[in-house]
Amino acid sequence: MTHQYVAVQWTRRKVIYDAILIGLMALYLLAFMQTSHWIADLRGIELETDGVAIRAYGSAAYILLHLTLAIGPLSRLHPWFHTLLFNRRHMGVMVFLLGAIHVSGWTLPSQPWIWLGMKTPKLPWAFYGSVAWYNNFGDLKPLVSLFTVNRHFGSLALFPFELLGVIGLVVLFVMAAISHDFWLANLTAPVWKAIHMSVYVGYAALVGHVLLGALQTNRNPWLAVLVLSGALALLTLHLLSGWREWYSDRADLAQPGHSWVDVGALQDIADGAAKVVMLSGERVAVFRRGTSVFALSNVCQHQNGPLGEGRIVNNCAVCPWHGYEYELETGASPPPFHESVPTFPVQLREGRILISPVPIAAVQR
Ligand code: FES
Repeated sequence: MTHQYVAVQWTRRKVIYDAILIGLMALYLLAFMQTSHWIADLRGIELETDGVAIRAYGSAAYILLHLTLAIGPLSRLHPWFHTLLFNRRHMGVMVFLLGAIHVSGWTLPSQPWIWLGMKTPKLPWAFYGSVAWYNNFGDLKPLVSLFTVNRHFGSLALFPFELLGVIGLVVLFVMAAISHDFWLANLTAPVWKAIHMSVYVGYAALVGHVLLGALQTNRNPWLAVLVLSGALALLTLHLLSGWREWYSDRADLAQPGHSWVDVGALQDIADGAAKVVMLSGERVAVFRRGTSVFALSNVCQHQNGPLGEGRIVNNCAVCPWHGYEYELETGASPPPFHESVPTFPVQLREGRILISPVPIAAVQR
């Protein structure tokens, strides 16, 4: 927080989530490659191992990118998904790593030489990435071939889809490289956030890459339909969550002349989590810990993250975006940190939560 660059703490839960993520990705890759070979055997076709591995890693990166981009809107639509917000950055870094392997293969140390046109021996378990494998058959060096052979820039159907993949990977690289809080602190939050919004530019480029790649190399219309369905599902999720936020912002519960506002039943909030309500134009995060309730401003002091989508850890509300913590009773960050958010007076009456819409000023330490 203010005195050090530690944004993503390695908690036990994060380690478990990362282990699950790596395990699921490994299972997907194995299943993809094995199934491809089984299908090829059934059809009596011989498959190139490199081509299958390239597609396995590329599709894994593409699917994981969709899941990563869906977490934000999903967590606004249902609290079940809040917990995934804590690992979203790790998922983004994993997307880049899978994409990089799709491009470079597992012969990474020899790739620069292969791209420059030098032949190097390949280990038995390794595979060539897409740059070396698809561009290694002519006289041109693979990297030169990648950027120069297809010049159909004026044709949508023949457009060099590989270049769209390069744009997408560069964007993912920048995202992964500056994902640590060191960069967040040095670039300042607005600049860092603006750069991270360019993930949607990278996403658009990758949709074009996969879509045109499917149509130009596979001529498989079902793959194109699948790609478009994924993009449509993501767009729908973002529109739905935007509409939900706009709608709940309009449903201001505070009424003139009422000093206490009934914001709902205690049992409607999961233990250790929160719900967000609108009071006098301000979003308030109402947290439940057992039979106690606490109301804090929903706006994290770090980067305006949605505090109400976080969880209670060690008597603190933890922001889901980068882990800033605020004590439930005071709204102040535990020492030695100095951030704080306003709190609101709360009462529990017969299982109903009553909140005064007049905030208590943030505690300064
Ligand atoms: S911790 Fe970064 S926005 Fe809350």
